[in-house]
Amino acid sequence: MLRMSTAALFAMLATAGGAQTPAERGAYLVNSILTCQNCHTPKGPGGVPVFARDLSGGLSWDEPPFKVTASNITPDPQSGIGKWSDAEIKTALRKGVRPNGIALAAVMPFDFYEILTPRDLDAIVAHLRTVKPISSQVPDPIYRMSVPRNIPPGAEKPMAESDMADKVKKGFYLVTIGHCMECHTPMVKGRRDFRADLGKGGFEFKGPWGVSVSRNITSHREKGIGAWSDAEIKRAITQGLRKDGTQLKPPMGFALYAKMTADDLDAVVAYLRTVPARE
Ligand code: HEC
Ligand code: HEC
Repeated sequence: MLRMSTAALFAMLATAGGAQTPAERGAYLVNSILTCQNCHTPKGPGGVPVFARDLSGGLSWDEPPFKVTASNITPDPQSGIGKWSDAEIKTALRKGVRPNGIALAAVMPFDFYEILTPRDLDAIVAHLRTVKPISSQVPDPIYRMSVPRNIPPGAEKPMAESDMADKVKKGFYLVTIGHCMECHTPMVKGRRDFRADLGKGGFEFKGPWGVSVSRNITSHREKGIGAWSDAEIKRAITQGLRKDGTQLKPPMGFALYAKMTADDLDAVVAYLRTVPARE
């Protein structure tokens, strides 16, 4: 009989059983719930992402504290992050600090990434290493004032892998890394109050679509989504349709969230049901 090393046997069983490699897990997260492409991939006519130039630099922001463009995060050694070590990429993701010590503007949702499990951080880095390197220099950032960190309560440290067995906790994890509450919590005097206003909506987004205002996604039965069915909530997240079936405006990354697994989407809805009602 053919002999096989234990490692080779496990590798074969893992593939047959459909277990994901870290890079596959990373691709899943980056291309779905994490919506990195929504900011880091350039957009063509009609706001459609140009996936041929995936992650090579994207949207720009000109706000009172900074003027920045989402960086080229392909492995290109000069204009991308090809020369960064794994640890340096993880520090940028969780701490919002570049290898040269300069802090990133808080549009980059690093406050929502402290909760990433070590396994998922490894997976994201593994995937970023596999992306096609593209040479593209984004404009240098301009910083006018520093912005203090503001991490949602409960998301200050990596989630324990064992918590993922709890549907609501897993949903909280996904909603955090999907930075839903960054957009769905109002900015009052330059800061979001995650304790008082979590999910209340009311944040304005200007773009080619005109102005869109994030909605109340708390469990409030009239003002929020408390009276919506699970299917209606899922349809809003993955297809961008309101309860009445009309189309929601950008910039929420519906098409990316649509790539979530059914289990993950279920967990997101289970958590949203627990968000205290606010109006
Ligand atoms: C809401 C928009 C947005 C999302 C979503 C986003 N980023 Fe960013 N990211 C930015 C912006 C803007 C910058 C540049 C900030 C600056 O120059 O200060 C940035 C910077 C970075 C940097 C630093 C690169 C450099 O050269 O300095 C890395 C690494 C990075 N992002 C990775 C990611 C990954 C991986 C994801 C998904 C997990 C992601 N980002 C999601 C907006 C975003
Ligand atoms: C980049 C900002 C942004 C992010 C990130 C975001 N949203 Fe939204 N979302 C919006 C805006 C803006 C609207 C309203 C658009 C409109 O009314 O045309 C919206 C609408 C919705 C609606 C429809 C509510 C209603 O009353 O019609 C739901 C549900 C929703 N978002 C849930 C989520 C969830 C869950 C996540 C994370 C998985 C998320 N959003 C991430 C900006 C965002």
